[in-house]
Order: sequence, then structure tokens, then C-alpha cells
Amino acid sequence: MLLINDLKLHSEKLRDLTDAAIARVLDRGWFVLGPEVSVFETQFAQYIGVAKSVSLANGTDALELALRATGIDKGDLVATVANAGMYTTTALIAIGAQPFFIDVDSASRTTTLQECERALEAGVKAIVVTHLYGRAAPDIKAIAARCAHHKIPLIEDCAQAHGAKVDGKTVGSFGDIACFSFYPTKNLGALGDGGAIATNNLQLAETVARLRQYGWSSKYQVTLGNSRNSRLDEMQAAILGEFLPLLDGWNERRRAIALRYAAVIKNPAVQLPAFSGEDYVAHLYVIETSKPESLRAHLKANQIASEVHYPIPDYKQPVFGDQFSHVKLPTTEKLAATILTLPCYPELTDAQVSEVAEAVNSWAP
Ligand SMILES: Cc1ncc(COP(=O)(O)O)c(C=O)c1O
Repeated sequence: MLLINDLKLHSEKLRDLTDAAIARVLDRGWFVLGPEVSVFETQFAQYIGVAKSVSLANGTDALELALRATGIDKGDLVATVANAGMYTTTALIAIGAQPFFIDVDSASRTTTLQECERALEAGVKAIVVTHLYGRAAPDIKAIAARCAHHKIPLIEDCAQAHGAKVDGKTVGSFGDIACFSFYPTKNLGALGDGGAIATNNLQLAETVARLRQYGWSSKYQVTLGNSRNSRLDEMQAAILGEFLPLLDGWNERRRAIALRYAAVIKNPAVQLPAFSGEDYVAHLYVIETSKPESLRAHLKANQIASEVHYPIPDYKQPVFGDQFSHVKLPTTEKLAATILTLPCYPELTDAQVSEVAEAVNSWAP
């Protein structure tokens, strides 16, 4: 079976680098918030093109702590898309804030300036823009300008888009604060959980740094409430530090796979994702068809795995009961019913990509 992602291939290829990183940490005997974390945070901030990065235990904590740092509190209305797997909504639930769900554009599958304007009119206290599937939101610059004008914080969720660019500028450097996940399948993935925020605002960085460690301003002195333990450990930081210089090469390979799919898939019942170049780091290659289940079964019969990212719009999740029954986002709902993700990861060979593409071509709905 061709897997949707093959992390064993990835970690085997990187075994020497990983072994060296782990040995360094073991030799030093410092395991949490030490020199590897500091070095990685500096390197990652430089890569994104911002002043500061603060590493965390995972990407969902990054969203929650970023929102808290910008002042979001219980009852506050916050704009988010509903097609991105519930992560931002989960962070909002943790805070007790209210999601204001906004729709996405059918080509980029990310939100638009127009939808953000609608949210601003509704009185949101912050906007989260998710750069989904590795595609930078095309409107991000205009949205940032609107948010700045309204003095409303803009949070970028870059968990699926490490290294994607708009006009030569890396995502994560447009908003007030950006959130990243280093979950193993991400474009920059650790060998365990990990996350970070990135920002040019030193005060926000300082607040997140306190929130991640019990609210301490100094050891055992607690000055911030709603804090927790959300630290990246030294081994993951050392591993991420070794992987970061390889990220652009991996993104290139992912993009080459997407281009190959675009060249070979020729099935009139299937629509391919739109991208132009550096705006897409091909985290997920998501196609559309009116009969995704049938295509999925056909691929499975051909020993090819596929996935749906994501089948349920956030506002339709069972956890909410009928709380959001008034919400209707046409493009989000259409996408949920038509999307299918094909394998797309750096270790896929050209022959495997062609095999997947030919299997898609041989499907008749
Ligand atoms: C768009 C998006 N945001 C946030 C997250 C949350 O990251 P984590 O799984 O590290 O908590 C993920 C990944 O799982 C994601 O894909």
C-alpha cells in the first residue's frame, strides 16, 4: 500500500543527523528549555523573517497562547475559518472565546479580505488566518492592512505552510503573531510534538514565554494567570535545528511532486489545486471531485491511500450540538463534500507520483 505519508522513510534518511543531535543533548544533560531551544528559536525567527520565536509543546498551544497574549479572553468573538480541522476553534474553546466562522475562497481554500471585512463589521476582537494545505492566503497583505487599520490583532496559523511566501515574504511575518506546529508530518516536523510562535512584537513574545512556563516572570514568581507548562524539549529542539536547513529543499521536492500531479492528472471529473510557485509548499495535495468516496475506493483498490482534510466544518462538529445551526458557509461546505488528499511528501519517487496520477486517470465516476 502506498501510504498517505511515510515517516519511517523520512526518519531513516535523517538518522545520522538525528543521532548526532540526540547524543549532543545526552552528553550535555540538559533536557528542557536549554541551549538547543535558544539556538533553534533564533534560527527559526531568522528563517521566518521576524524578531522573535518562542517554542512551545505543540501548535494548538501556540494558537491558544498567541490568542491569550493578544488579549483574547472569555466571551470575545474571534474570526476563524471552519475548514482547517478545528485547531483554532479548539484553542478558542479552551479560552472560552466565541468563534465567528468565515468562509474561504474556492481556489485558494483560504479566507479572503471580504470575509475578514464581514468579521470586522460583526465586532471580532481578533482574526486568525490559516494558510491551509501549504498555500499562503493570497489576501494576507490586504487583511493585515485592514486589521492594522482597525487595531485588531491578526494571528497567522502557519502550521501547514512553513516557508510559503507572498511577494517574497514568508508567511508568519504578516500578522501580529504567527503559530506553527512541528507535528512529525508537517513540512518542518519534529520526531514528536512541537510548536512555536513567531512575532516582531517583543512584548507578545515575552507574554507567550511566560504563559508557556507557569506564568513565571522569574523562577517561582507567578505574574500571569491562565498559564501552563508548554515547553519544547531539548531533543526536539536539537532535531529541529538540524532539519531547518533542509526545509527549503523538502518544500522544493513537495512542489515538484505537485507539479508532476498537475502535468499527469487528466481526468475531467477531477479538479486540481491552484498555485503559482512559492505561494505553495505542498503540505497537502488536495483535489476535488463530486464523488470523492468513489475515487477513494478506486485508489484503495489500486493500493493507494488517500485522506479527507477535513470532512466536517468546525461549526458542524457534534461537540457544538445546534449552537451554530444558523451558520452556513457555502464554499466551506462544498469543499468538505468534494475534497480528497493524495500522497505528497518529499520521499515519494517520481514513479510513485505517476502511479498515483495514472490511478486517478483510470477512475470513472
Ligand atoms: C492548520 C493547523 N493548525 C494547527 C494545528 C495544531 O498543531 P498540533 O497538532 O501541533 O497541536 C495543526 C496540526 O495538527 C494544523 O494543521
